[in-house]
Amino acid sequence: MKNYPKIQKLMELGNGILGSRYAILGGAMTWISESNLVSAMSNAGMFGILASGAMNADALKSEIALTQEKTKNNFGVNIIMLNPQLQNLIDVCGERKTSHVILAGGIPDKATIDRIHSYGMQALSFAPTLSVAKRLFKQGIDALILEGNEAGGHVGPLSTMILIQDILLNMKGYPIFIAGGILRGEVIAALHQFGAVGCQLGTVFACCRESIAHKDFKRALLSANGRAATVPVQLDKRFPVAPVRAIENKGTEEFIARQREILAKFDNDDVSMDDGRLSLEHFWAGSLRRAVLEGDVDRGSLMSGQIVEIVREERSISEIIATILQEAEAFLENSSQEDSDCWENGVDVVN
Ligand SMILES: Cc1cc2nc3c(=O)[nH]c(=O)nc-3n(C[C@H](O)[C@H](O)[C@H](O)COP(=O)(O)O)c2cc1C
Repeated sequence: MKNYPKIQKLMELGNGILGSRYAILGGAMTWISESNLVSAMSNAGMFGILASGAMNADALKSEIALTQEKTKNNFGVNIIMLNPQLQNLIDVCGERKTSHVILAGGIPDKATIDRIHSYGMQALSFAPTLSVAKRLFKQGIDALILEGNEAGGHVGPLSTMILIQDILLNMKGYPIFIAGGILRGEVIAALHQFGAVGCQLGTVFACCRESIAHKDFKRALLSANGRAATVPVQLDKRFPVAPVRAIENKGTEEFIARQREILAKFDNDDVSMDDGRLSLEHFWAGSLRRAVLEGDVDRGSLMSGQIVEIVREERSISEIIATILQEAEAFLENSSQEDSDCWENGVDVVN
């Protein structure tokens, strides 16, 4: 295995938290992040994360066991906080001696973080604002992920660049990973220089060779432009809809039609806000399954980030990691060379 001393040095903090060789997290993707992909990621030195989004406690238990058969390395489990079985799913992770739980789709309370810690597992979650980030660290979260709006799947309102400036740069010394619109090693190296302890990538791994996603799903992502990966509109402010980034197709129109249908029922008191929102979540999960597993790229959900703009070929996980490390190392070598060139030429780089 080739060494990349400069970027590996910068990744040390993140590796310490994850127990991995490289501080690159394979973001959980419902239906895609299953035992094959996740174990292959962790075996390649990064940190794979199982997506429990479409699983009940029994299904998660067997998926963790399958993953553990395929890798001895650490991997995490992503749990969506809306899941009514949240506590059961955490217990399953603890009983199976999972190393990390990543809570998504909500802001965890202290009791949930404590429950994860009671099993000796580490708790990670997402933070949308500086005040939430500070609160989560006070409540004992082990690390945070800042995920920008460029990402694929469910997204928050702010871009990665804003989150970096609002949270990362104001919380130096705290363990923070960055996600959303990241692929090139140069950017990953620069994020480490800004104080990030690692990065999370999703879309590129949905399209990698080890991903079980249907070939037509991968092909649709690999040939799409970034501007096609959009977030469908929310029809009514009174009925907030979780924004989801996906490549536009007939499924997008169907989602808007479904929203309209549920809104009409909501107006007639035929459905509650919670049930209506849950039914929209089920719509996404079902249509993502159709696209990912059955290759229905017309009507299924093609969740993906804007990064599809530069994801152009199906590569193996080890090729993706090697390219990232080479780019990061070359960037760090060049920037230290440029600094010393400036000094040799008598240019004061500080002024
Ligand atoms: C198809 C797809 C499904 C996703 N499902 C989930 C999920 O179940 N839970 C979650 O926390 N994030 C989910 N994400 C977000 C990823 O974990 C990751 O944070 C994101 O893809 C990173 O941004 P990128 O797509 O620009 O690389 C999903 C992303 C994609 C593309």
